[in-house]
Amino acid sequence: MGTFTCLSIFVLILFSFGINAKHLGTRQWILKLPLMEQNNQEPFEKAPYFTNIKKMRKVIVKPAGAFLVLKCKADGYPTPNITWYRNNEKPIRRLGNIQYTRWSLNLEDLTTDDCGTYKCVVCNALGCLDFNYTLDVVENFAARPLLIERPHNRTVAVGSNVGFKCRFLSDLHYHMYWMKGIPSENSTVVEHIVSEDPEILELHSVTHESEGWYTCVAANTVGVTGASAYLEVFSANLSVVNNTTTIC
Ligand SMILES: *[C@@H]1O[C@H](CO)[C@@H](O)[C@H](O)[C@H]1NC(C)=O
Ligand SMILES: *[C@@H]1O[C@H](CO)[C@@H](O)[C@H](O)[C@H]1NC(C)=O
Ligand SMILES: *[C@@H]1O[C@H](CO)[C@@H](O)[C@H](O)[C@H]1NC(C)=O
Ligand SMILES: *[C@@H]1O[C@H](CO)[C@@H](O)[C@H](O)[C@H]1NC(C)=O
Ligand SMILES: *[C@@H]1O[C@H](CO)[C@@H](O)[C@H](O)[C@H]1NC(C)=O
Ligand SMILES: *[C@@H]1O[C@H](CO)[C@@H](O)[C@H](O)[C@H]1NC(C)=O
Ligand SMILES: *[C@@H]1O[C@H](CO)[C@@H](O)[C@H](O)[C@H]1NC(C)=O
Repeated sequence: MGTFTCLSIFVLILFSFGINAKHLGTRQWILKLPLMEQNNQEPFEKAPYFTNIKKMRKVIVKPAGAFLVLKCKADGYPTPNITWYRNNEKPIRRLGNIQYTRWSLNLEDLTTDDCGTYKCVVCNALGCLDFNYTLDVVENFAARPLLIERPHNRTVAVGSNVGFKCRFLSDLHYHMYWMKGIPSENSTVVEHIVSEDPEILELHSVTHESEGWYTCVAANTVGVTGASAYLEVFSANLSVVNNTTTIC
């Protein structure tokens, strides 16, 4: 009896740490059944979800010859399975292989034949979740950097934080930076780049002086590419607040 209680507690502890009964030995399995009946719903059941959704970019542009890794790392309970499709069919390649790891699909030596929509579907007993990657493969990349995502105009109140984003593609090594102003005018390099990611410019607590054009620039040995966006800064007008308060 003493051994039984001891084992029960042991199993209870394992159980509360979320260890699947199927992974335990036969003896523990038998002991666990009454516990399962007591709380008859699995407390850990969780529909699949992507664990790195922020890093999953919908559009991917790669130069020919590059190596591609598409990741759909997912979690859930029970642990989801993953299935990949290319243009809604089982992926096949005329040239080269497709390698799969637990959560990724890898293509070596990309060609323009590999373009298309790659979908991962992750499923467990509770349901499925999918994500579409659109792949574009571009040839002849010995060129100046290609702009693939341009910054957007922003209008914000004084004191706000604001971010601009730019993305370039280049098979040659390139250097990226942000400037205030439009190139060829009297533009100055923006001093306060807060982000460690050169694709993103973050401005904190903007003032009226922050208003103006911001330009991202990418340069490689072949040439320079830039794109600009306008930041408009407005005052938070207190007269509105004034009027609303009098109504109340
Ligand atoms: C993935 O899991 C789901 C739900 O458990 C199941 O219906 C499906 O057959 C599984 N797919 C594969 C390829 O194992
Ligand atoms: C992915 O594309 C399919 C069509 O091919 C669509 O049915 C599905 O909703 C898309 N998934 C997402 C997450 O956008
Ligand atoms: C650039 O700055 C110089 C000196 O400050 C000024 O004379 C010139 O007009 C400016 N050019 C432009 C396009 O703003
Ligand atoms: C961005 O703002 C500038 C200045 O207000 C304007 O000239 C330009 O057309 C705007 N661009 C877009 C895409 O809205
Ligand atoms: C607020 O708006 C009023 C008109 O509604 C204007 O006269 C005033 O200058 C504005 N104040 C500021 C600080 O922009
Ligand atoms: C307050 O609101 C009224 C209309 O409701 C408007 O006529 C007046 O100009 C407003 N006052 C200020 C200071 O914005
Ligand atoms: C209301 O607005 C007026 C000017 O429009 C200002 O003098 C006054 O201080 C404001 N009152 C409050 C409570 O903010």
